[in-house]
Amino acid sequence: MPDILVTDDGPIRTIRMNRPDKKNALTQAMYDAMAAAIEQGSARAETRCLMIAGSAGAFCAGNDINDFVAASQSGELGAPVLRFLHALARCEKPLVAAVQGAAVGIGTTMLLHCDYVVAAMDAKLVTPFAALGLVPEAASSLIVPRLMGHARAFSMLVMGEPLTAEAAREAGIVNVVVPAAEVDARALTAAKAIAALPPEGVKASRRLLRGTPDEIVQRIDAEADAFKQRLRSPEAQAAFAAFLNRKR
Ligand code: COA
Repeated sequence: MPDILVTDDGPIRTIRMNRPDKKNALTQAMYDAMAAAIEQGSARAETRCLMIAGSAGAFCAGNDINDFVAASQSGELGAPVLRFLHALARCEKPLVAAVQGAAVGIGTTMLLHCDYVVAAMDAKLVTPFAALGLVPEAASSLIVPRLMGHARAFSMLVMGEPLTAEAAREAGIVNVVVPAAEVDARALTAAKAIAALPPEGVKASRRLLRGTPDEIVQRIDAEADAFKQRLRSPEAQAAFAAFLNRKR
């Protein structure tokens, strides 16, 4: 089975991360597949709503740490990551997310680009960027302080304090918290409700709510420059080695 499953059911395109043995940690190939699915879904006339989902027990454990190690040696962040982030920021169709279990790093920051997020009671959102010697990505350094103010953004993005599903709902990242078994169905119900609305009205309204994507894309690129520098740092190297060599 591919690591990213893309299915079209009438107006709804579902993009499911499917690498459960690695908690859906994202490889370069997975970023590329997700980016292509969003770009094509955004352009495809029949599609009215896109849904991003993970697997039971894990939404996404963030970037694959082995890829971070490779990137730190090559000095490149990897074009597929940026392609994915740009696709999210420039997507013209509403994005719904269904989140169960761990949402780490980009697993959390991709949610900031979604329009409707359903989270399971067991969902845990965590962005341990500074602990890994890294910096925030996906324009989270812009969006999160706007959502929750600097102090709470600092504890989330710098101190890496996890958000429970309920705290994420209070912060405005999550719309609704439901039992894990109901997450996919509730997200699909939301996607169907969005898809039933007049699409041009939705598109125009969404544009007004989100503003121009250019500011978001600029921040994504600025963060990526800083991120590349940090990937090479001794702090990051030590953190990656600690994760990969941890005893369990
Ligand atoms: N990159 C590479 N492999 C990862 C990974 C990642 N980001 N996250 C998890 N995995 C792998 C583990 O190494 C393990 O592989 P193995 O079975 O071959 O040893 C497998 O996925 C299961 O992970 P495990 O840690 O045993 O599951 P858990 O339920 O105890 O914990 C997480 C889940 C997500 C909390 C934990 O794996 C984690 O913290 N991962 C790293 C997250 C991270 O720092 N991401 C980068 C953010 S910028």
